Amino acid sequence: MAPSVSAPHVLNISDLRRQAQRRLPRVVFDYIDGGAERERSLAENMRAYDDWRFRPRSAVATRSVSLQTRVLDTDLALPFMLAPVGSSRLFFPRGEEHAARAAGRAGTGYILSTLSGCRLEDVKAATTGPAWYQLYLVGGRDVALAAIARAKAAEYRALVVTIDTPVAGLRERDLRNGIKELLTFNPLVCWPYVCQMITRPGWLLGYARDGGLMKFPNIVLPSGPMDYADVGAALEASMVSWDDFPWIREAWGGPIVVKGAHTADDARRAVDVGASAVVVSNHGARQLDGVAATIEILPEVVAAVGHQTEVLLDGGIRTGGDVVKALCLGARAVLIGRAYAYGLAAAGDAGVTRAIDVLRTDVIRTMKLLGCNDVQALDASYVRSARR
Ligand code: GLV
Repeated sequence: MAPSVSAPHVLNISDLRRQAQRRLPRVVFDYIDGGAERERSLAENMRAYDDWRFRPRSAVATRSVSLQTRVLDTDLALPFMLAPVGSSRLFFPRGEEHAARAAGRAGTGYILSTLSGCRLEDVKAATTGPAWYQLYLVGGRDVALAAIARAKAAEYRALVVTIDTPVAGLRERDLRNGIKELLTFNPLVCWPYVCQMITRPGWLLGYARDGGLMKFPNIVLPSGPMDYADVGAALEASMVSWDDFPWIREAWGGPIVVKGAHTADDARRAVDVGASAVVVSNHGARQLDGVAATIEILPEVVAAVGHQTEVLLDGGIRTGGDVVKALCLGARAVLIGRAYAYGLAAAGDAGVTRAIDVLRTDVIRTMKLLGCNDVQALDASYVRSARR
């Protein structure tokens, strides 16, 4: 039976994380939860929100709060969207479709990862909200061009190009949990790692009913859809450079979002290659350990390109207060990744819906306590740096 994701069992994202941990084999849970190397940036992404303190305006009547946000000329009911998360189908059967459906029902957008287990057409059909397609160049240019053509035909509204994967980050947890050994399918090699699956019968049953190990149906190689590879191995084959943008832009013909700017310089380059939006992102701290938290970088990027392009942010968001701080510092909207992935892993659509509800309620409460009734009115005057 699926665990209850309503109050008082689930009051915050950490509660969903705990439920995900109970339902998933370690190798899958740690894929969501883990970061690169010593996970310093992973911790820092979350901690750095504490470097900003709120400056509320009291005795301001805020009976209702508007969360309406406009991103790439699309109205969203919330100031956050769902970030691309690879392999979501391993977290829950048809995972990407559930997440997209929950996002659409909440009036917000869903970004589908290239490393999805569901066909991009099925994911688009599952949601009533806007969908964007995230592009990795796994398999090379022709494979990417075919995916771009399909995403266009399916009416995805924007193409998100991730720029921070010249090589895969060292995700130690994946290796310790036997991801490479499990993917050999050789019982002699796998057996030390199989116990983690057997002790999670609920997950195992769903996985078996969903057809077992997913393929990557949006990476169609000459031999057919690419077999599942651990994400690290897939990312190895996904190098993109600024020189690729002209052909990507020409093939896509719509708005391009560059995801993975860590510095003002890269944000400027993104604008130069025609980005309509830039995501300040360190890939959920899964790539280069030791980079700064995204909330620390955000003011630098907003100052550099905020007048030319829309600036979004992902990384470390676990509360509505985190969302509000990012908006105060100039993000047009934020992308949540692990926050909804825990919900998906805990309870599918209901879990994603609960994650969204938790954050929405948090944002509204935080806005009322700040004395601000519209997310569009948030600015740096509502926060102060605790470091000064
Ligand atoms: C997928 O993009 C991942 O970083 O795991």
